[in-house]
Amino acid sequence: MARILPRNVHLKNGREVVIRCGEEKDVLALLDGVKNVLLDGEGMLLEADEFSKTEAEERGWIKSLNENPQELLLVAEAEDKIVGTLDFHIAKRRRLSHSGSLGMSVQPGWRNCGVGNALLESLLQWARSVPEIEKINLNVRADNDRGIALYKKHGFVQTGCAKDAVKLGQFNFVDELSMEVFVRS
Ligand SMILES: CC(C)(COP(=O)(O)OP(=O)(O)OC[C@H]1O[C@@H](n2cnc3c(N)ncnc32)[C@H](O)[C@@H]1OP(=O)(O)O)[C@@H](O)C(=O)NCCC(=O)NCCS
Repeated sequence: MARILPRNVHLKNGREVVIRCGEEKDVLALLDGVKNVLLDGEGMLLEADEFSKTEAEERGWIKSLNENPQELLLVAEAEDKIVGTLDFHIAKRRRLSHSGSLGMSVQPGWRNCGVGNALLESLLQWARSVPEIEKINLNVRADNDRGIALYKKHGFVQTGCAKDAVKLGQFNFVDELSMEVFVRS
């Protein structure tokens, strides 16, 4: 079972978050958080009305992440609310299983003050302690300047660009970038 010790982090705006593992007790807060982030829409691929996960499905997702020692679900908790999440999934095929991918989001009112930074720091620290994990991948919209800045700060480099991968309107396309960082070097 993948675990990290909870860690308190002081943010740029003077507030404080705790970075800890997400647990089944967080299921409703996590579901509400996803819906909120999708309604806001920034940086997202999925549209809000496409999200249909049930409480039981979300609970199963949390459980399976927590049961796998090479996967991790992190939450940033502040003022009794979950204000950010990060999930890391290891690739399932043996020849790819030295790498995994991450997804993350921070609630709209909490962005740009270091929550994402704190989540990513905890992931990378944990990943460096798991011998099987050598590389972390992610995909990010090319218009997500804040996300790209955060990933580069933590050593991610761009490895590819899917031209016009995201269609936002009839004539509005955005590229999707792939990025990766090696955690063993
Ligand atoms: C992307 C996201 C996860 C980042 O988390 P965050 O808590 O807002 O990020 P942080 O505050 O920790 O760090 C953001 C960094 O980007 C920088 N930044 C912000 N806006 C920027 C811009 N327009 N251009 C360049 N850099 C920018 C900040 O200065 C900060 O860097 P610093 O710590 O060196 O000053 C968060 O904003 C979010 O959830 N966005 C919407 C959903 C999303 O995009 N998810 C990721 C999908 S890949």
